[in-house]
Amino acid sequence: MPPIPFRDTPQAYGLITRILHWAMGALILWQFLGMGLRLIFGRQPFVSFFVGSHQPVGTVLFVLVVLRILWAVANRRNRPDHGTGPVAIAARLGHLALYALMLIIPSVALLRAWGSDRAFAPFGFQIFPAQEPVIAWTGQLAGLLHGELAWLLLAAILGHIVMVAVHERKWRDGTLSRMAGRPRPQG
Ligand code: HEM
Repeated sequence: MPPIPFRDTPQAYGLITRILHWAMGALILWQFLGMGLRLIFGRQPFVSFFVGSHQPVGTVLFVLVVLRILWAVANRRNRPDHGTGPVAIAARLGHLALYALMLIIPSVALLRAWGSDRAFAPFGFQIFPAQEPVIAWTGQLAGLLHGELAWLLLAAILGHIVMVAVHERKWRDGTLSRMAGRPRPQG
């Protein structure tokens, strides 16, 4: 069997897209696991194990989503097509919403970290020094958007998973194999 190519093709997503997709999926799941546990159990010691990595993991997710968007643009003429019709339009809009949310959610949090009176040093590397005075609007913006859009992202991800199941079970069109495993031969 031929190896999966680095770049995307019209038949399937390539290795780079797959690594970005599944690594981000796992890290986003970790973020929701931590925040979900905090919501249910409050600030208990075992919860801080999950929540303690939230900011560094979120920063990694920001870098990954920027890379992913650049990679998607570079491969835009060379990836599986969604076709035409209402389902295809819904798929395109759904994916656009996922990209927008994955970008905005960490961005507003990083903006708040930049405007804060505490230095921001994920993994021990200082990215932003402490601000004096605090840049208040950055905190207000993140307070307004970060958590709310994150829960919306969770709902969008669940919708994404449901649609993959519909493709697999009902339409049996091999959609999942474009991102996992070998693509099905056409025709
Ligand atoms: C894609 C990446 C991220 C996701 C999915 C995510 C998700 C979430 C969720 C679900 C919450 C809980 C909201 C609530 O309590 O209702 C939250 C809170 C929080 N996140 Fe993130 N986050 C991400 C990135 C970041 C980054 C990069 C930072 C910091 C630089 C950060 C800092 C915080 C802080 C300080 C809170 C608690 C205060 C608040 O709710 O705004 N997050 N995040």
